[in-house]
Amino acid sequence: MSTLSSRPAGASVGRSVAHESAVQHVTGTAMYTDDLTAQTVGVLTAWPVQANHAHARVIGLHAEKALLVPGVVRVLTAADVPGVNDAGIKNDEPLFPSEVMFFGQAVCWVLGETAEAARLGAVAVVVDYEALPSVVTVAEAISAESFQGMARTVQRGDAGAALDSAPRVFEGVTEFGGQEHFYLETQVALAQIDDGGQVFVQCSTQHPSETQEIVAHVLALSSNAVTVQNLRMGGAFGGKEMQPHGFAAVAALGSLLTGRPVRLRLNRTQDMTMTGKRHPFHATWRVGFSEDGRILGLQATLTADGGWSLDLSEPVLGRALCHVDNAYWIPDIEVHGRIAKTNKTSQTAFRGFGGPQGMFVIEDILGRCAPALGVAAAQLRQQNFYSPGQATPYGQPVRHAERLRTVWDQLSTTSDFESRTKTIEVFNAAHPHVKRALAITPVKFGISFNFAAFNQAGALVHVYKDGSVLINHGGTEMGQGLHTKMLQVAATALGLPLEAVRLAPTRTDKVPNTSATAASSGTDLNGGAVKNACDQIRSRMADVAAGLLGVNAQDVRFADGKVTGLGKPNSAIFSFGEVAAAAYMQRVQLWAAGFYRTAGLHWDPDRMQGEPFKYFAYGAAATEVEVDGFTGAYTIRRVDIVHDVGDSLSPLIDIGQIEGGFVQGAGWLTLEDLRWDESDGPSRGRLLTQSASTYKLPSFSEMPQIFNVALLERATEDGAIYGSKAVGEPPFMLSFSVREALRQAAASFGAPGYSVELASPATPEAVYWALTAARQDVERTVALDPALADA
Ligand code: MTE
Ligand code: MOS
Repeated sequence: MSTLSSRPAGASVGRSVAHESAVQHVTGTAMYTDDLTAQTVGVLTAWPVQANHAHARVIGLHAEKALLVPGVVRVLTAADVPGVNDAGIKNDEPLFPSEVMFFGQAVCWVLGETAEAARLGAVAVVVDYEALPSVVTVAEAISAESFQGMARTVQRGDAGAALDSAPRVFEGVTEFGGQEHFYLETQVALAQIDDGGQVFVQCSTQHPSETQEIVAHVLALSSNAVTVQNLRMGGAFGGKEMQPHGFAAVAALGSLLTGRPVRLRLNRTQDMTMTGKRHPFHATWRVGFSEDGRILGLQATLTADGGWSLDLSEPVLGRALCHVDNAYWIPDIEVHGRIAKTNKTSQTAFRGFGGPQGMFVIEDILGRCAPALGVAAAQLRQQNFYSPGQATPYGQPVRHAERLRTVWDQLSTTSDFESRTKTIEVFNAAHPHVKRALAITPVKFGISFNFAAFNQAGALVHVYKDGSVLINHGGTEMGQGLHTKMLQVAATALGLPLEAVRLAPTRTDKVPNTSATAASSGTDLNGGAVKNACDQIRSRMADVAAGLLGVNAQDVRFADGKVTGLGKPNSAIFSFGEVAAAAYMQRVQLWAAGFYRTAGLHWDPDRMQGEPFKYFAYGAAATEVEVDGFTGAYTIRRVDIVHDVGDSLSPLIDIGQIEGGFVQGAGWLTLEDLRWDESDGPSRGRLLTQSASTYKLPSFSEMPQIFNVALLERATEDGAIYGSKAVGEPPFMLSFSVREALRQAAASFGAPGYSVELASPATPEAVYWALTAARQDVERTVALDPALADA
């Protein structure tokens, strides 16, 4: 096993420990970016002037009246930008636009002594618009051929020929909605200029280095003049990968121009109407099966609704195309992907990053085709699993494909799948107006950034003379437990108890050129870097200890804060601190910068071929639902999950990620319904669901009544930090089991073999229409067949 993966005895990793900030979280003492505002003197607040057109030219901007409002200090416009007037890196996101691209876009920003002054100032700004025609829905974009970015295709074999010769061919359209991140902490930045002219931005960002770059280019500064710090985030979920940059830049610009600290914090309505969401998709497909239900070929076209600018739409689409296969071997395949350009918020990363959208297509296909093929959905799924030795459509061998079956079989047993399926049949036969269903779905999710260069990370580890340790790494904490895991990694690598290690906030002047904490790879990358730094220090300390102990440096052992020599008596034990002090006296460097790059990755984005992923994370979920035939209302009765996190670094954290990811996925698939004004009225393009009162999130009442999560055992991942696997995103996609259970329950209201089309999100209303369709088919069958009517 690689030294990266092998775990010493008594390691801190692998223990169930509480989140490093759990106590602060629950006592309200954890600091978030906006909490710093209260501690900062002379802070101005920035407030946006939001456009009330989906698409319009700005023909006049009059700030005079705003400046008369008491407390208004300045109005920031495009004319104030010393550098590049762009919030992104693709030059398609003007920070202060002359052409409004979506309803609610900020045209300019007002700085006020208080939030209320800034708000009143924003109301007083007069903007003249010339309305332009807009494209709001994906369907409109497709018919208007309104696309952006690169179209991509993943292809293997000859899907057309496979479909021509397939005995069973089906085709259909699959459409599903986006998702609001609804992180509890909205977008926020606090910018200050220090005495040296250095711009210091505290920002709720998953990607401090990119926030730094964009602040620098907006202000026409070099990167060394801008520092970005992130204490922690109150949730991010991908929504703070790109979206924070422009807000940070506005705050920094305001600070540069006024010489005062500037805080920008969106309220919930602003956040919902201004920031990007999960991409909704539209897909058309043709699929071919053998008589016994083996997938022979698939042709599909996926259209992602990218909103007004590219943002991360291209990589999101790329990941969608790389996950259309999910866990299934599709010998001949041709999947085209393209990005619609619409006058809506610029859709962005969201947990799974396109993976859920790709998988949605194949899971919808299997769910719809199973009844028509006369095969149980669970059977159809498992008989199409990848086998060891097979490769994905983009050419990556599916390593550990046998785990799909291991996970599936374990889950079938622990969830009592067969006997509960029978119980449900009996229940359904006895209940004409209430139906239950149990569905099981798999997940295979690729870990690493597709873009190979992003798979690098840095860390800075200090050992002080007293033996205490301070670590810094390039990743950000958004609640996912990355910092907890990094503390465990450092403690393990240095042979220390967890309490001996402290962690300092993420800052670009400590660790430069970092990648976003995203793609679930935060632990793999930063863990590799932290361990690398610790290994360097430990090896130097081993030399010192060898002298103290009178052994060869290779025979020095670090464990539990004690340093011993192989074969030496207990009397010769030194504490870690004693060795650190001795090292200092010998002028040995006690800190180190660590670096990690994931080995073996390559990816050709033009051909969509390569091995972009270090490994795959596997999992499966079995969900039982109960649906009411009169209303479509449903409950999730029980969920069982078996998920592969390799050897868990932190079981409590991992189980939390699995539960949270699953529930967030279930929210996307069943509740969260983004509605936009698609009319031709004056508020065309306006987001109608602007708050929690109209946008339903999962809450306690939607929790599964029974929720069993198990980690796959003996799952060591060679080549990853201490044998673990990433966990942040993959469990999100376990929630397809909820949607498939709802589909099966709806089908039970009809005759066997009825293929249910279920809208997404599968709200109670959508489920009602689906089961009504199934039922009406029953009535028709009964009417046509007197024998059935008698039964
Ligand atoms: N968990 C919490 N509590 N809050 C979050 O914002 N983001 C998710 C996931 N889990 C998120 C979370 C997303 S989108 C990703 S990519 C990963 O965490 C990022 O962190 P990691 O790479 O350290 O897993
Ligand atoms: Mo996660 S969507 O990769 O931030």
